[in-house]
Amino acid sequence: MVIVGQHRTLSEFATSAWSGHDQLDGLDAVIMAIAKGSYKVSQKIRAATLADVLGVTGETNVHGEMVQRLDAASSDIFVDILRQCGHVAVIGCEEIEEPVIVGDDPQHAFMVLMDPLDGSSNIDVAVSIGSIFGIWRRSDNDRVTDASLLRPGNEQVAAAYIVYGSSTVLVVATRNSVQGFTLDPESGVFVLTHPDINIPMECPYYSTNEGNFKALNETSRRAVKNLRAAYSQRYVGSLVADFHRNLLKGGIFLYPADRNYPEGKLRLMYEANPLGFVAEQAGGAASTGKQRILDILPEHLHQRTPLILGNRDVVEQTASLIKGG
Ligand code: AHG
Ligand code: MN
Ligand code: MN
Repeated sequence: MVIVGQHRTLSEFATSAWSGHDQLDGLDAVIMAIAKGSYKVSQKIRAATLADVLGVTGETNVHGEMVQRLDAASSDIFVDILRQCGHVAVIGCEEIEEPVIVGDDPQHAFMVLMDPLDGSSNIDVAVSIGSIFGIWRRSDNDRVTDASLLRPGNEQVAAAYIVYGSSTVLVVATRNSVQGFTLDPESGVFVLTHPDINIPMECPYYSTNEGNFKALNETSRRAVKNLRAAYSQRYVGSLVADFHRNLLKGGIFLYPADRNYPEGKLRLMYEANPLGFVAEQAGGAASTGKQRILDILPEHLHQRTPLILGNRDVVEQTASLIKGG
């Protein structure tokens, strides 16, 4: 039995840290909704075959990818719980082509972009997966439209992810604060276990899909060779799991543009922006190789981007090599 009493609960932390702060007032309700949804998703993942959530739905999503049953189940869980929390005006989701407009009265103060299940190729083989959330504040009194969501990552007020690994960990970032909470599976309560996360100075790991090396251009190959020479390779194939390890231990994640994905594979609004925000608040960096991820002015909800993410000095060195420096 985990002794919750030794740790501050997420609810206590959220209320004391964010209530009453102008930009963050109401954020506690959104984060508690995400936590509650992730507990439900975590239970489905742990039960997997028994909960009849493995395999594919037979549908393809807006990206032309086969939708895993757990992708769809997670999307439904988080959309419903965010809609019910009463503080979210609009939701953008990897698995849903159009934004879900919830409401635009003043209490609906936040906009949430999410990847409800990240690392889908790992679902059926019991390897760590995750969920990712970017949180923006709605500009007051604007009517909520599809375009409302297309804000640069540097306007996020918070970001969060959950990694469903050997334990279920929720990481929440706000300006200059990154906090990690571990789920007590018996009580369903998240407790503060990783206060004030900062990415270590050392960078022991690099995470990239070496199978794509032959599809890279010359400068990206040079960047990967540079990482190979300096660091140990760790690649799970779930961005959240690779990023979480690199955030706690130091490391760099690299998914450059290549012949198969000339724009990059990962999605700007609900993968690169949220994790780039977390990385920066923890002292790290996120780049496309040409510019800071959080400065990109988005053109559409599901646009892709190259991504270099992790220790600031190594991100900058890798970006410079990719640029041809
Ligand atoms: P998603 O499951 O949400 O589509 O994301 C999968 C992403 C990311 O999690 C991971 O880093 C990357 O795809 C792995 O891509 P490769 O299998 O091409 O390496
Ligand atoms: Mn993903
Ligand atoms: Mn996904």
